[in-house]
Amino acid sequence: MSQHASHLTTAAPRRAVVTGAAGFIGSHLAHALVQAGAVVVGVDRRDPATDPTAAANLAALQRLPGYMHVTADLLNCAIEPLLVDANAVFHLAGIPGVRPSWGPKFSEYVASNLLATHRVMDAVTRMGVPRLVVASSSSVYGPTEDGPSAETDRPQPASPYAVTKLAEEQLCLAYSAQAHCPTTVVALRYFTVYGPRQRPDMFTHRALRAALTGQSLRLYGDGHQRRDFTYIDDAVIATIAAATIPTASGVINVGSGSSASLLEVINIANSLSGREIQVHQENPRSGDVLTTRADPSRAHEVLGWQPQVDLHSGMRAHMQALAAETAAYGHVA
Ligand code: NAD
Ligand code: UGA
Repeated sequence: MSQHASHLTTAAPRRAVVTGAAGFIGSHLAHALVQAGAVVVGVDRRDPATDPTAAANLAALQRLPGYMHVTADLLNCAIEPLLVDANAVFHLAGIPGVRPSWGPKFSEYVASNLLATHRVMDAVTRMGVPRLVVASSSSVYGPTEDGPSAETDRPQPASPYAVTKLAEEQLCLAYSAQAHCPTTVVALRYFTVYGPRQRPDMFTHRALRAALTGQSLRLYGDGHQRRDFTYIDDAVIATIAAATIPTASGVINVGSGSSASLLEVINIANSLSGREIQVHQENPRSGDVLTTRADPSRAHEVLGWQPQVDLHSGMRAHMQALAAETAAYGHVA
């Protein structure tokens, strides 16, 4: 959890399962849940004993007595034993990232985002777990003029990744809509989450790394594309609320309603580091949309959620974490 975590005071489920717990969002979520008093089983196929990213993401968490980590692939492991007595399952495991989803890797996206989710839903409903929160994505909206995108808008996924995320959330919702289904599903459409331990393929991480190290930054397009950037602690608060608020169900955006351009992110990174990033412009990448911007009304009404961390403060915390990582390991991922 990052230094903004002091405001993570949301009530937690008593016993929770977090899939994708060795990942960026999952590790922060599991940490916040344990800190709030939950017993948490984290599941991920990346093994912290052999995978340095998983080890770094889980380093603080694995020292906490309320946390148990299981290294397993949801495509073939026995899921039901992991769910015994769980009040909530947070299903974050999956293959993220828009651009690599074109080409042969698509089968991995289908496997982890759809087939594994099918196994999770089957187990969750069989075991009578009352609540499942699934990680969906702003990418399901596809190209929008300037937004804001509301949950009732027609999805127009523009990349193979986005297609799998739409199918994933709809699969979970179809399960929960069955007569007598014991599980309520909340599908959170996260808008570009950033902060400490962000995946190294993502733009904010790369811009801050370039600012810290002097390496150049590849910019896909002219930098005028805009994202509704969401700080990790804000994303975690929304996620826990989605599991604990009894009336929550269906699709909910997790985004602020405002957006910033990539050029603004570069400017903030420059001013935080006191160094001018060397930018190499390349062609825009297929499947990238020009703008994402959430209509946050439903998150506010249903979850009582309002993001607290502005882009400048969030990037400062992100940069401090990267700098600490460099000091500890001698390099930034
Ligand atoms: P991440 O890659 O850091 O974490 C995902 C984790 O899932 C990884 O540790 C991976 O090993 C694990 N995983 C994948 N397939 C698995 C399988 N078959 N069995 C077990 N574990 C498996 O990604 P993240 O950025 O933390 O994203 C988490 C979730 O949120 C993903 O579902 C992603 O699509 C979604 N999401 C992320 C963002 C964002 O901005 N980071 C935005 C929208 C949606
Ligand atoms: C991010 C996550 O990677 C997805 O997993 C997630 O589903 C999605 O947010 C979401 O909001 O749903 P994306 O918005 O593409 O996807 O975020 P970044 O990977 O940080 O890319 C943002 C922009 O920066 C894109 O236009 C991309 O082309 C650009 N970029 C990225 C660069 O110009 N250079 C880079 O090195 C990386």
